[in-house]
Amino acid sequence: MEIIIQATPEAATSVAARIVARLLREKPNAVLGLATGSTPLLLYRALIDMKLDWRRVTTFNLDEYIGLPQDHPQSYHSFMWENLFRHINIPKENVNIPDGNASDIPGCCAAYEQRIRDAGGIDLQILGIGTDGHIGFNEPTSSLASRTRIKTLTPQTRKDNARFFGSEADVPGHVITMGIGTIMEARQNLMLAFGNNKARAIAEAVEGPITTINPASILQMHPDAKVCLDAEAAAQLKRAEYYRWVYDNKPDWQHL
Ligand code: F6R
Repeated sequence: MEIIIQATPEAATSVAARIVARLLREKPNAVLGLATGSTPLLLYRALIDMKLDWRRVTTFNLDEYIGLPQDHPQSYHSFMWENLFRHINIPKENVNIPDGNASDIPGCCAAYEQRIRDAGGIDLQILGIGTDGHIGFNEPTSSLASRTRIKTLTPQTRKDNARFFGSEADVPGHVITMGIGTIMEARQNLMLAFGNNKARAIAEAVEGPITTINPASILQMHPDAKVCLDAEAAAQLKRAEYYRWVYDNKPDWQHL
């Protein structure tokens, strides 16, 4: 795991944006895994401003709420079109988001896995992290080998996401999410976290044991995982000074 700590969310985002931009320039037909929520908003804004060429890029989103109409303002379909896709030149047919209204949810999940395989696998997966350590919507105790499937949100996650819906009761209870096994197959994982409320989950994920109780901790087993943090999200890391030193003293050829 490479831990990149910057003073602000903006600075941490600009490191992440450079990583994504480099991939898109080096591999114009890259397959990108995307996340929703507050965390990647700055990243999407930065990528839009970079005016990259998305014509041959394929995207797969991590998750979607079950039962929310696609055009609901809080569906992840709406989120992605509003905050990224409508501002870039990606063809609609290259965009993949789980269908939370499918009549056959298990069939839809299996087909999603197949589409990822058919696309050649995910080159780079963007991740946020829940305050309980979830990645995608793989809540604590999710199998570390799981594939795309239905999950039930924890009360904590519904409380965290109530800010988007107005009340906790309006947050759907079920979601489709890529599994942890699916996420681990991405060739590169890039997790972002900002703010005090993520500090504990980040400390556990980066420096704690690998455990289903903090699903993000599985990234310790990934051969190419980067974690971009602001100072607040890094506040409980015991070895923060070491991570800062490593990043500041990278040989030029290693630097992004
Ligand atoms: C969203 C997702 C979730 C979020 C996490 C953090 O697609 O997969 O894991 O990344 O819930 O959400 P925010 O960024 O809103 O704090």
